[in-house]
Amino acid sequence: MTFGDIIYLLAISLELLLLPLLAIYIISITISWLYGAPYVVTRKDELNELVEKAKKYLTKNAQFIELGCGDGRITRMVVRDYGMKGVGYDINPLLIFVARLLTRFQRLPQALFFKKNILEVDLSQTDVIYLYLLPPIILTMKNKLLNTVKGGALIISHAFKIPYLEKYLTDQVDGVKFKTYYYKRH
Ligand SMILES: C[S@@+](CC[C@H](N)C(=O)[O-])C[C@H]1O[C@@H](n2cnc3c(N)ncnc32)[C@H](O)[C@@H]1O
Repeated sequence: MTFGDIIYLLAISLELLLLPLLAIYIISITISWLYGAPYVVTRKDELNELVEKAKKYLTKNAQFIELGCGDGRITRMVVRDYGMKGVGYDINPLLIFVARLLTRFQRLPQALFFKKNILEVDLSQTDVIYLYLLPPIILTMKNKLLNTVKGGALIISHAFKIPYLEKYLTDQVDGVKFKTYYYKRH
């Protein structure tokens, strides 16, 4: 076997390994799109300020939910920094797998992640809700966010306003690319 043959075999093996992984990735990203929002993360350099604004709500006994959690970075951050319980939901099984893996590495048993459509999540006991979603699915959630969230709860929407919660708007942060909106239910 020549050196060229070895390189060829290596290239073929790599391709056979990478192609299925690429296919899984593309399928999972398409699933996210179809269900309501593509997978785009909240910028790491903006996380501190976004969470800091909500800190008076982030108490040990409060419950945090991230709707469409992606890799779960915000949920893990509040659990790690504020010692509270956090739950992230995402429709994309690959992202839930990654979120759980990172959580295990960081040893944060209070951070839980589930594959679930956010339209089916019970928000009635939640104190802080974080979302970074597109306007159409925000609109679909109207009944849930208006009628099932308890009084006193804080809803944080990154990038897009929640038009039907306008009267509850209490604060906003101007980020590099997007604004973040804070709504306090009463
Ligand atoms: C823009 S990303 C935000 C990710 C993460 N929250 C962040 O800020 O870094 C939106 C996420 O919502 C998820 N998603 C979209 N529609 C969903 C649905 N109906 N139910 C659950 N998750 C959904 C996508 O899979 C994607 O991970």
